[in-house]
Amino acid sequence: MKNFLFSAFTIFISAISVFSCAKAENYSISPMTKTSDVNYTVEDLKNLRDFLLTKPAEDLSEKNYDLDGDNAWTVFDLCLMKRQISDMNNIQDNENTEQENILVAYFSRTGNTEKIAEKIVDITGADVFEIEAENPYTDEDIAYHNSSCRANLEQADKAARPEIAGEIENIEQYDYVFLGYPIWWGEEPRIIDTFLESYDFSDKTVIPFCTSGSSGIGTSEKNIRELVPIGEQLAGKRFEVDSTEDEISDWIDSLEIDNKKEVQKMNISVNGHILKAELADTQAAKELYELIKSKPLTLTLNEYGSFEKVGKLPQSFTKNDEQITAQAGDIMLYQGNQMTIFYGENSWSYTRLGKIKNVTEKELAEIFGDGNVTVTISAEREFDFETKTVMLNSGYEMPIMGLGTYSLTDEECYNSVTALLENGGRLIDTAYMYGNEAAVGRAIRDSNVPREEIFVITKIYPGEQFANPEKAI
Ligand SMILES: Cc1cc2nc3c(=O)[nH]c(=O)nc-3n(C[C@H](O)[C@H](O)[C@H](O)COP(=O)(O)O)c2cc1C
Repeated sequence: MKNFLFSAFTIFISAISVFSCAKAENYSISPMTKTSDVNYTVEDLKNLRDFLLTKPAEDLSEKNYDLDGDNAWTVFDLCLMKRQISDMNNIQDNENTEQENILVAYFSRTGNTEKIAEKIVDITGADVFEIEAENPYTDEDIAYHNSSCRANLEQADKAARPEIAGEIENIEQYDYVFLGYPIWWGEEPRIIDTFLESYDFSDKTVIPFCTSGSSGIGTSEKNIRELVPIGEQLAGKRFEVDSTEDEISDWIDSLEIDNKKEVQKMNISVNGHILKAELADTQAAKELYELIKSKPLTLTLNEYGSFEKVGKLPQSFTKNDEQITAQAGDIMLYQGNQMTIFYGENSWSYTRLGKIKNVTEKELAEIFGDGNVTVTISAEREFDFETKTVMLNSGYEMPIMGLGTYSLTDEECYNSVTALLENGGRLIDTAYMYGNEAAVGRAIRDSNVPREEIFVITKIYPGEQFANPEKAI
């Protein structure tokens, strides 16, 4: 319900954005108390929205809705208010339901992995999902001294996907998934592959753990990494069946999973793709972020060794080199003044700069291709309500305020676009079918605002226009 309400407000914000810039000064009201001291409610949000839409509202003269301190009540105050309420709700949610973003999902045929899973649940308070086979494994099925038992046949077939009974209803709520399984023939059981392919893990952190007779977890970790896009895969761990709660707790502490969300992000534009990356927790990564924060950085990276692209940075960064086996997606500082992006694996002395998320090794190799590449790296920023701008994936900074021109006729459209541009708006949404592209064009031309500052969206019509889009535009 809460989300629905805020979505509804988002639509209102779009609807009134241009209108408010023109009108708000008529309703200017001075601040009386510091807005940071005010705890706004959904009622306030409705009041301000109605005010901006000039709908009749109760007496608001005692209210302080000038959150950005510009002596006017505008759509930006509405945005700031919405954000304050949303932040408050998030804090309360986090306080009430600790660890509701962690899931322990495990498969365990003889109960060993289950013991570890239960301890992880005890320690973290996470939710739990047991991965059970639709067709349960009998003792005969896992009698692995028999070369033709079901488990052995499945493990011998990389494409086997045993069906899972039941499903997770609300996978979206989880940021972290501890994934447990026994080692079967050195790998994860194929039912784990079924599980991984059943949900979207591209924005989640996955932490594998296993039990085994003696084998390590390594091959299964690699298989998981290569199977589906995973937001981040932390180093997994094999446990002895009788591992104590203290041992497991120490391991969980070492993951520092609570800090994971505060990382800064960047976009890497390469060969027409926008890759999302997180910056590492190193001094060099901080220096890189400072560099790209205000202006995107374009680099030429040269192909090297069929596993990396490497190129010179415009300045040196602080080196904290260590011997690292870089994996596909890792972004490293090399010799203090070069950036290396890996699409394969290599061991050398590097300082971490970041990691590309949500792409498999294979996809990354395809995106980067064989030869040299040009990449543009920009800091990913949320909407900034102080500067009232948003940074686009392309690296361009655009004012938040925009105008949708649907239903605006010729002169009305011309005047509206003119008012938008005069008031700092730079985004105009039109379409062939609105019949007002010419009026938009005239208003832009007459405004004297440099064309390269203005963002125009238009839409073409099915039929002849689709067949020749360049001509249509
Ligand atoms: C089909 C099969 C294959 C196995 N392969 C291995 C193996 O390669 N290496 C190993 O150390 N243990 C192997 N084991 C032993 C299990 O990994 C170990 O008993 C595990 O703790 C069982 O976990 P569970 O009780 O959660 O099912 C295998 C067991 C089965 C049934």
